[in-house]
Amino acid sequence: MLAKEKMKLEVRPTGAALGADIVGVDLASFGDDEFALIRQALLDHLVLRIRGCNALDDVAFTRFAARFGEIKPSPDFTRSRPVYLTDAPLVTVISNVTENGKPIGEHGDGELNWHTDLGFTDYPSALTMLLAREVPPRGGNTSFANMYRALETLPEATRTRIARLKLKHQASHNAQGGKRPGYRDIETDDVREMPGPVHPIVRVHPDTRRAALYLGRRFGAYIPGLPLARSEALVDELWTHAALPENTWTQEWQVGDLIVWDNRCTMHRRDAFTGQGRRRMHRLTTKGERPMGAVADPVEYG
Ligand SMILES: [Fe+2]
Repeated sequence: MLAKEKMKLEVRPTGAALGADIVGVDLASFGDDEFALIRQALLDHLVLRIRGCNALDDVAFTRFAARFGEIKPSPDFTRSRPVYLTDAPLVTVISNVTENGKPIGEHGDGELNWHTDLGFTDYPSALTMLLAREVPPRGGNTSFANMYRALETLPEATRTRIARLKLKHQASHNAQGGKRPGYRDIETDDVREMPGPVHPIVRVHPDTRRAALYLGRRFGAYIPGLPLARSEALVDELWTHAALPENTWTQEWQVGDLIVWDNRCTMHRRDAFTGQGRRRMHRLTTKGERPMGAVADPVEYG
């Protein structure tokens, strides 16, 4: 019998503003050289897709994810329904499925607006990975925005204006406006008074040293020091620009797709898929650093 020919890893960019497919790799058994190529491809393309991971079990998924850095699930106070897998306890479940009257995962079947994961904490997630176990026939697509490009293509006057500004990523309310567990006693609806960390709007990626727009969530966003109306107008301008189609790419899920994205230079959103059937994603996230601004340590745009 012929020896199985060794697959050759290839990086195939989507041709859109971000994203690339990795083909020719078995994530259950890959070498250091192959991982180095995957890591570099992520820095270059911001989002990676590896199709055909149907047989990758959750232990092997965890092992792959841990090559990128320490795995750190979202803190329970941020989560509507903490659900972990018993055989791979760092994996969490994103799903609309209900079994025995109980949801098996988080986030239901509604739209999830543009955001970056855990931006409303001091140490937002660096990477997020989703492995598609069940996918509905329609809906539930995930779109990504290239936040390097969003910054680089802003009008120069806006870039200058935001270079030293910061954004409060309010922590008390979720994207739908409901209060998060742990913040039930917060009374205010005024974004200027809501609690949450303040991060630079122009963020430097720790590995590439490139500057990116860093926005978090639109709901409750506020630029400290600005009158409310001016803050609202500026954050609206930034969000509208970042979400332009030329800055984005949309993933249409197939079972077995594994997507890795870098929250430090992208944001993402999910379409609703109400009434479309079962969707079940297994998720891992890696520990991030405190976002670093471009002002104290200037870098060139572009
Ligand atoms: Fe997310």
